Amino acid sequence: MMIPHIPEDAPFNSDQRAWLAGFMAGLNSRLIAGDHVATTPAAGAAQPIHILYGTQTGNAELVAMDAAEAAKALGMAPQVRGLDDIDMAALAEMRHLVIVTSTYGEGEMPDNAQLFWEALSADTAPRLESLKFAVLALGDTGYDGFCQAGKLIDTRLEQLGATRMAARLDCDVDYEDAAAHWLGDTLPLAADAPAIATATDSPPKSAASRKTSGWSRKNPYASTLAVNRRLSGAASTKEIRHFEFDLGDSGLAYEAGDALGVMPVNDPVLVDLIIQALGASAETEINGSPLAALLSTRYEISTPSRDLIAEVERRAAHEELSHVLRNGDREALDGFLWSRDALDLLSLLPQRALNPTEFVGLLKPLQHRAYSISSSPKEANGHVHLTVASVRYHAGGRNRGGVCSTYMADRVAEGMSAGIFVSQNKAFRVPGNDDAPMIMVGPGTGIAPFRAFLQERRARGATGRNWLFFGDQRRETDFIYEQELSVMSRDGLLTRLDLAFSRDQQAKIYVQTRMKENGKALFSWLEDGASFYVCGDASRMARDVDMALSDIIADHGGFTPEKAADYLANLKREKRYLRDVY
Ligand SMILES: Cc1cc2nc3c(=O)[nH]c(=O)nc-3n(C[C@H](O)[C@H](O)[C@H](O)COP(=O)(O)OP(=O)(O)OC[C@H]3O[C@@H](n4cnc5c(N)ncnc54)[C@H](O)[C@@H]3O)c2cc1C
Ligand SMILES: NC(=O)c1ccc[n+]([C@@H]2O[C@H](COP(=O)([O-])OP(=O)(O)OC[C@H]3O[C@@H](n4cnc5c(N)ncnc54)[C@H](OP(=O)(O)O)[C@@H]3O)[C@@H](O)[C@H]2O)c1
Ligand SMILES: Cc1cc2nc3c(=O)[nH]c(=O)nc-3n(C[C@H](O)[C@H](O)[C@H](O)COP(=O)(O)O)c2cc1C
Repeated sequence: MMIPHIPEDAPFNSDQRAWLAGFMAGLNSRLIAGDHVATTPAAGAAQPIHILYGTQTGNAELVAMDAAEAAKALGMAPQVRGLDDIDMAALAEMRHLVIVTSTYGEGEMPDNAQLFWEALSADTAPRLESLKFAVLALGDTGYDGFCQAGKLIDTRLEQLGATRMAARLDCDVDYEDAAAHWLGDTLPLAADAPAIATATDSPPKSAASRKTSGWSRKNPYASTLAVNRRLSGAASTKEIRHFEFDLGDSGLAYEAGDALGVMPVNDPVLVDLIIQALGASAETEINGSPLAALLSTRYEISTPSRDLIAEVERRAAHEELSHVLRNGDREALDGFLWSRDALDLLSLLPQRALNPTEFVGLLKPLQHRAYSISSSPKEANGHVHLTVASVRYHAGGRNRGGVCSTYMADRVAEGMSAGIFVSQNKAFRVPGNDDAPMIMVGPGTGIAPFRAFLQERRARGATGRNWLFFGDQRRETDFIYEQELSVMSRDGLLTRLDLAFSRDQQAKIYVQTRMKENGKALFSWLEDGASFYVCGDASRMARDVDMALSDIIADHGGFTPEKAADYLANLKREKRYLRDVY
């Protein structure tokens, strides 16, 4: 009997791996000593378990893969699929199911779970009395609909008569420990036949093959910034910058379509102001660490945490804050918080109302920011490129900046290093078929992954046609990567380039204006098998582009709105409508 293998490069860190391995080792020894002889199950004898994931940026998929490895180690036969790959007939056949899903947008299903949810929430959904299930929800308490997708699926499965094997777990951004423990507790419940331990000599492939180095969110690689240059013109109202990080001998690998996680360091000016407001000093010790170091690298001090907001409301007699909190009016609260940081909240209290330990105890851990990689590894020569809009504004007499975008712009000079890791997005890739056409809609920083896609196709010698819709405020100052795109057009790599500069004329012209003007051709590209990609602003642009695409399909396909919706759903099912939006 062998102790089951936990793959070295699973997303779990070494402690979590040790815990899971310990759990499995314990299980094995119980089995060895106990009533049921643990043997490698005969082919076909293992308990089937379905592990379905809903993901936008890959976290849930990685957790699902690890769940599968752990299930295998417990003698089960796991099948891992995206939620949209499952129809209701297939769901009704399942007996044991674990769902891992994130939430996206504003409390919405991630893109690859939308069709599943439509079918599951419909009146026509089948009864599921024979199904045992458990839901692991990934989310972020910073959002209003915390883990809403997982909650909805969990409730609906119960309504349809399925039996919950374990209570749903709602995970905040630091999900790895909690997820590993939950899986350790939950998976054996699915093996309701006496558990059978496995013996595998070779490391499981799926997890092992998905990462090529040990660098992760918890263990970022200190990469040297080789290039930090402004792309937008000096007269632009925006500041978009191009960064190139050197991967050195890190072993970090990526593909066009992946994102880069960057670990920021807070603005030292804000750190100092908060220390002053607390009446403390940089060296004030909190649990053995100096306050300045904690506020610089460990805690989020720009966006106020929910706990800080609630505590300030409790202690400060601030009519407006109390009013918006009591009303539960999210929009009013967002309005109140817009452009206020942790220092602004602290300033609503009498001086020294909170001591440094209390204050730090109310903060959330500082998180990495994700950036769509704008290079293909085939052309970037050991570097990884980013295209980033610097978030800057002035409020309350202070110049303020987004934590990470200004950290990279202002505080990491060329030659200095920053912590990075690759975040895979396996769903967001150039078409597998090099001959297939590709339509890309990426205004503003949304151009990032499409620069990578075009480089990728050039390096592969792909012959498929490529069509890019790009735009921003003004051609004169905001036509980023103009040179490169002209060369790509000249060389025939970029078959079509349609531009939408919104502020060069009286009426706004957006990318979807150009899509509609070229609706007939766009529809014919789709009919020819084109994949349709969107990247950039989620709240307005991606929503409007989605509506424009529906209209184009209806108008040029001659479809009713229902048939157009089917056509769009089919594009999603065939993974030909893919979005990387934020
Ligand atoms: C998968 C993914 C890919 C991404 N790719 C890219 C990319 O390629 N390029 C890119 O630039 N970004 C990208 N982003 C966004 C990026 O992750 C960060 O969210 C962005 O850079 C802002 O982070 P920050 O730390 O600078 O700002 P934060 O410190 O997080 O602050 C942002 C907050 O500042 C406040 N704020 C912003 N503007 C104002 C204002 N004018 N007045 C008052 N308050 C304001 C808002 O509350 C806003 O939420 C991506 C995000 C995801 C999830
Ligand atoms: N605080 C800042 O300094 C700052 C600056 C820029 C972006 N941002 C934020 O950073 C993120 C990335 O910005 P970005 O550079 O990718 O893009 P962006 O600045 O939001 O917009 C890029 C282009 O898209 C246009 N646009 C606006 N609404 C649209 C819609 N409904 N449909 C289609 N196009 C639309 C913009 O036009 P108009 O702007 O003329 O309407 C602009 O021409 C966004 O989430 C944005 O909100 C912050
Ligand atoms: C643009 C954006 C919107 C998000 N919206 C929500 C939300 O409404 N509720 C929530 O709980 N989490 C939200 N999240 C957090 C994600 O669910 C969380 O980061 C999760 O780990 C992502 O997993 P995935 O990579 O599998 O998609 C959002 C994240 C992003 C980047």
